[in-house]
Amino acid sequence: MVKVLVAYDTKYGNTQRVAELIADGLKAAGAEAVVENMKKVKVDEAAGFDAILMGSPNHMGRPTRTFKKFVGKLQKTNLKDKALAAFDTYVGKKDEQEIIHPGGGEFQKALRRMEEQLKAKFPNLKLITPGLSIAVGGMKGPILDADLPTCKEFGLKIAAQL
Ligand SMILES: Cc1cc2nc3c(=O)[nH]c(=O)nc-3n(C[C@H](O)[C@H](O)[C@H](O)COP(=O)(O)O)c2cc1C
Repeated sequence: MVKVLVAYDTKYGNTQRVAELIADGLKAAGAEAVVENMKKVKVDEAAGFDAILMGSPNHMGRPTRTFKKFVGKLQKTNLKDKALAAFDTYVGKKDEQEIIHPGGGEFQKALRRMEEQLKAKFPNLKLITPGLSIAVGGMKGPILDADLPTCKEFGLKIAAQL
């Protein structure tokens, strides 16, 4: 059975929820999925999976520092033959975006940066793209109902590529 680690960072719980829904999809496709906070994942443990999915909330157009640290941790282990994929959450509403970046400014999805970093740090690993980017209704969420199945479908799609 394919083993997948779904590692997330979160401040308000939404990215964790996305991780759990992705895991539901993976399990529905017959994979084994473990959902864990990035801060708690041990390097040796990560080595035991066939694929590692990484999720981060968008903080100022980027993934969090915890994501960066997690990638650094992964670099210290032997990830030969593993597949990677990324997902993020971000504020989708224009008026909420205005609060975070008054006067407009670049509102980038963190996902693109995560994928760039993963490509650069692990050039020999398979990066499954496109990743998943989920809008939340406000700073603290929630995930829009319409996106709940999208998360599960992403899990199914990933499983099909492993
Ligand atoms: C410090 C901070 C900066 C943020 N910056 C952005 C941003 O630049 N763009 C955006 O779309 N959302 C931004 N957000 C909103 C987060 O993306 C949103 O709170 C997150 O998706 C919720 O996920 P979580 O519940 O897993 O923490 C920011 C949130 C915080 C706390």
